[in-house]
Amino acid sequence: MSSPRTSDVLVIGGGIIGLVTAWRAAQRGLATAVVDPEPGGGAARVAAGMLAAVSELHYGEESLLGLNLASARRYPDFVAELTEATGRDLGYRRCGTLVAALDADDRAQLRELHALHERSGLESRWLNGRECRRLEPMLAPGVRGGLRVDGDHQIDPRRLADALVVACERAGVVFHRVRAARLSVARERATGVRTAEGTDLAAGRVVLAAGSLSGRLAGVPDGVLPPVRPVKGQVLRLTVPARWAPFLSRTVRAVVRGSQVYLVPRENGELVIGATSEELGWDTTVTAGGVYALLRDAHELVPGITELPLTETCAGLRPGSPDNAPLLGPTDLAGLLLATGHHRNGVLLTPVTGDALARALTTGELPAEARPFTPRRFTAAARTEQPA
Ligand code: GLY
Repeated sequence: MSSPRTSDVLVIGGGIIGLVTAWRAAQRGLATAVVDPEPGGGAARVAAGMLAAVSELHYGEESLLGLNLASARRYPDFVAELTEATGRDLGYRRCGTLVAALDADDRAQLRELHALHERSGLESRWLNGRECRRLEPMLAPGVRGGLRVDGDHQIDPRRLADALVVACERAGVVFHRVRAARLSVARERATGVRTAEGTDLAAGRVVLAAGSLSGRLAGVPDGVLPPVRPVKGQVLRLTVPARWAPFLSRTVRAVVRGSQVYLVPRENGELVIGATSEELGWDTTVTAGGVYALLRDAHELVPGITELPLTETCAGLRPGSPDNAPLLGPTDLAGLLLATGHHRNGVLLTPVTGDALARALTTGELPAEARPFTPRRFTAAARTEQPA
């Protein structure tokens, strides 16, 4: 029998991306372990959980759009399977999204987004201000128009993370509740990790899925270390009293003076308001300025929020990558795979990431839809950019 310190697959990081990778690997018969001091933690404890493939589309991210849509399509089956495996309610809500414009500039920007949707064959419908308020009566009277995106839903990322821990446990995944200090490499192959307690965990393959921390794991050779950086997001949680329900019936978002703000209403009365986007390194302080900006912008969109109890403020770190897309699959170091760099789309991309990594771990190949996201796109680019 193999030692509990040896596995076929060792996943570094027990956030939702590491957990889904471990769950899918274990389902395929691979002896799988996760190393993380707090499985189920990470950015998912902060995230609002929008599944916003269409409403969060950005210019220049068309190839990411394909992966986002592939993952959105998988969501209903993924939720059904995970609910069946764990008996947990994931707070998956097929409620759609309204993107609102507050002034003439916002409206012009939203018209551009609508045109991009139409060019990309995506479903979104233009509404005038009155139609927006008929859909969501709590919207400010000044809303000038909006886009109704019925295909962008939401899930509760905390429930998702907790359910994935249970699913992993039931599938036989071993948890090492300790920090991975260093990747172990022998004869140009990843062979496991050394933990912060000095224990060596050995594995046939190692998957680095440590979110924003992935870019600074010791022992990963230069050129293989993923170019992932922390992008801070501050988020607020309010509570809608039952007598006020439904306060909002769908996710409502807007760009207010250039900053994104979104309000995500859960069925249990939680209303999540997010999120700042700050390049401040490893700082996770909740600041007065961050809270003020979110409340100011959300209030402009939905004035009634100031009546609601503010129940939580928090900040997390998105794993940003140079092209805002994830890094998935084998690297130039044998035995090391990546599942990181999901930036704004970690929750949305959870199902497709689990499937892509399971395929890579069992066949050595990524499925077609994930191939553009090979980590090698950065090493190849770096090589061509070398001066002659
Ligand atoms: N996808 C939402 C965010 O990153 O804030």
